[in-house]
Amino acid sequence: MQLSSEASQRFARISAHLHSPNLQVRGFLGQPQLESALTGMDLVIIPAGVPRKPGMTRDDLFKINAGIVRTLCEGIAKCCPHAIVNLISNPVNSTVPIAAEVFKKAGTYDPKRLLGVTNLDVLRANTFVAEVLGIDPRDVDVPVVGGHSGVTILPLLSQVKPACTFTADEINYLTDRIQNGGTEVVEAKAGAGSATLSMAYGAAKFADACLRGLRGDAGIVECSFVASQVTELPFFASKVRLGRGGAEEVFPLGPLSEYERFGLEKAKKELVESIHKGISFIRK
Ligand code: 2OP
Repeated sequence: MQLSSEASQRFARISAHLHSPNLQVRGFLGQPQLESALTGMDLVIIPAGVPRKPGMTRDDLFKINAGIVRTLCEGIAKCCPHAIVNLISNPVNSTVPIAAEVFKKAGTYDPKRLLGVTNLDVLRANTFVAEVLGIDPRDVDVPVVGGHSGVTILPLLSQVKPACTFTADEINYLTDRIQNGGTEVVEAKAGAGSATLSMAYGAAKFADACLRGLRGDAGIVECSFVASQVTELPFFASKVRLGRGGAEEVFPLGPLSEYERFGLEKAKKELVESIHKGISFIRK
């Protein structure tokens, strides 16, 4: 099967020694080289697929990206079944369930090793909150939970560190800006794609956190869309502790404001559909 775009045919092979002078970068092209790209990997990052154009939601990418993710995950199940998988391809709310189903079918599924990359939402949240507070974004930590699309992106502004309070207007503004940060970029690029540099930055930070976890470093916590029992949904984004086994601990949401509780119900309504869509794509 041919993958559908040139971008989706490139596979980056990243050495597990990201900070080592022995770093190797090798390129692979197309499905014939998929096995060579994947064999022996500890961490696989999947950014493949088509990006949004103005007016599209992430779900509009499902038709093309779902098949690409399925093919790549079949390769992972065959060539590196114990690798940690960082899934970036949109719609993440559906592609993570797709990957889980592929791995289940192959008998290789380990829920702790499959992580949807949602930390770009955290980076955006930290940036926009820092602007409002007039401080450095590196000093801000905003948990962003739920999923990675529209109302499923739920920033917990009541849990911002350093502790602070916002007016109702600020909460509305920040929530809307964080939920639509990706769409803002898609519209600014006017047909030339979606966020690339910021997505790459988020993905590199997240991959680095996973590698530090694999190395055995302690106390590594990031937000990620994972198999979860935090809500009644089978997948949900929240803070997770990364370790040698992947997402070794999934943290609960903590106390929510009334605004966030309302947002959570809205997020779950959309998430349940997206998760179901991913699962039935493989099961049907
Ligand atoms: C974003 O949020 C590409 O989904 C990505 O910009």
